[in-house]
Amino acid sequence: MRMPLAGTCAVVTGASKGIGLAITKALLEQGVRVATVSRTAADLEQVVRQLREQYPDRVKAFPADVSQEEEAVRVIGEIGRAFGRIDILMNCAGVSQHSPARLEALERQEFERILRTNLNSVLYCTRETLPYLRRQPQSFVLSILSTAAFHSSGGGFTYAASKYAARAVMEGLEQDCKGSGVRVASISPGPVNTNIWSHKDVPVPQERKDKMLRAQDIAEIALFLLRLDDNVHIGNVTVEPWFYQK
Ligand SMILES: NC(=O)c1ccc[n+]([C@@H]2O[C@H](COP(=O)([O-])OP(=O)(O)OC[C@H]3O[C@@H](n4cnc5c(N)ncnc54)[C@H](OP(=O)(O)O)[C@@H]3O)[C@@H](O)[C@H]2O)c1
Repeated sequence: MRMPLAGTCAVVTGASKGIGLAITKALLEQGVRVATVSRTAADLEQVVRQLREQYPDRVKAFPADVSQEEEAVRVIGEIGRAFGRIDILMNCAGVSQHSPARLEALERQEFERILRTNLNSVLYCTRETLPYLRRQPQSFVLSILSTAAFHSSGGGFTYAASKYAARAVMEGLEQDCKGSGVRVASISPGPVNTNIWSHKDVPVPQERKDKMLRAQDIAEIALFLLRLDDNVHIGNVTVEPWFYQK
C-alpha cells in the first residue's frame, strides 16, 4: 500500500537551502504540511515567508541548531506539539569541509563541527522523531548521506567519517524498523550544485558547478522513495552526475 501524502506532516532539517529546500517544495506540492528546520533563523524565516505565499498555513519555520542534542530535543518536541503528528523525517542538514585536510593537519574543532552536524543531527533528530513515526500506520525517515559514505578520500576523510557513521546509523535503523510501518531510506549523492560549495576555501568554477546534480534531482528521488509501495524496500540510492569529472 502506498502512503497517502496529503495531510501528513513532515520535518525537513536543512530546509532553508539546497537539497532540504528542494525536498520541502516537493513535499508541499504533494499536499504535505512541512515543519522546516535550519540553523540561521533569518534565512529560514525568509524562505518560509516566500513559501507561505503559495502554501499558506502548510509550512512553518522552526529554527534550531540540530547538531546540539538539546536543540534537537527542543525543536522536535515543539513540532510535535504544534502539528500533533509527524509522519515523515527528512534529515538534510549538513556541512562539508572548507578544504581537504590530511591527518597531520587535523583540527579538533573542525572535525567536531562536521561530526556534530552530519552525524549527531541524524542521531538526535531521528531518535526524537521515532516515537511520533511509530504512532502512524505508515511513516518514513530519509537521510541525505553522500558517495563519501562509501569512499573516503585522503584529504576528505573528516567528511567521509561523518557520512560513514551516519550510514551505520541508517542501516541499523533499517534493521530495527524492518517489517514495521516505519520505512527507512537514504540517498547518497555525488556533487550537487548547492550553497554548500560556496563555503570552500578555493572557489569551485561555475562550469564545474553546472555539471553537478541539481537539488531538484535529489528531491525527485526522495519523492520516488516516499511514494513506493510499503512492501518495497530500497535502503540507499547512490546517484552521481553523468558529465561531471573530478
Ligand atoms: N551539495 C552536495 O554536493 C552534496 C553531496 C552529497 C551530499 N550532500 C549532503 O546533502 C545535505 C544537504 O546539503 P546541501 O548541499 O543542500 O547544503 P546547503 O545548500 O549548504 O544547505 C545546508 C542546510 O543545512 C542547514 N544546516 C547546516 N548546519 C546545521 C545545523 N547545525 N543545524 C540546522 N541546520 C543546519 C543549513 O542552514 P544554515 O545555512 O542556516 O546553516 C542549510 O539549510 C548535507 O548533509 C550534505 O552533506 C551534499
